[in-house]
Amino acid sequence: MTVTDALSDRRSCRSFTDQQLAHGLLDDLVDRARRTPTAGNCQGVEFLVLEGGGVADYWNVTLAADRRESFPWPGLLAAPALVVPWGMADRYLDRYAESNKARAGLGDSIGDWPVPYWLTDAAFAAMALQLLAVEAGLGCCFFGLFGHEQAVAERFEVPESARAVGTVAIGHPDPTRARDSGSVERGRRPLDEVLHRGGW
Ligand SMILES: Cc1cc2nc3c(=O)[nH]c(=O)nc-3n(C[C@H](O)[C@H](O)[C@H](O)COP(=O)(O)O)c2cc1C
Repeated sequence: MTVTDALSDRRSCRSFTDQQLAHGLLDDLVDRARRTPTAGNCQGVEFLVLEGGGVADYWNVTLAADRRESFPWPGLLAAPALVVPWGMADRYLDRYAESNKARAGLGDSIGDWPVPYWLTDAAFAAMALQLLAVEAGLGCCFFGLFGHEQAVAERFEVPESARAVGTVAIGHPDPTRARDSGSVERGRRPLDEVLHRGGW
């Protein structure tokens, strides 16, 4: 499978079978996903990897029992694995305080960063993870944490400076329970609408 194949084959999967992932596969996917570029080679993305009871705990803190009934994607809850990539902001401050980065003036405060590169890098890793999941014949869905980032951080004892861009659900797609999002109806914008050759 080429990168082009993986990009065109990938669609968000919101319905999974309860089949567990092969032993060690998730660690292997994360190991390869962490090869994405990182600002200053900080390598400041760390991954909360959840399977089994960890997945149940994730849903317990992000989706209250009384909201389950009306949750539009019950098949998402069946995903056997969840991965939350966290950008470790402190690592970026430390790295940019080093002598060969200090000229950027970003080593003192996260407020100085026009773009919080820990989020950029975490998003890159999340995308790589999704492509690798597709390559492995799995389904995946990146979804937002909305107001639950803090609750997830507390439950799983994530360090204070860490920020999450979202969560990647990974598993075996269940075509019989497939249920799409309303967003799927939106067609792909034509290339000439998004490609601005030489200027807007
Ligand atoms: C930043 C971001 C946040 C997203 N949040 C959600 C979400 O909370 N729930 C969900 O079902 N899908 C979510 N998605 C998936 C998008 O809805 C999906 O990528 C989009 O509709 C295009 O469909 P496709 O992934 O099948 O190509 C998110 C995607 C991105 C990139």
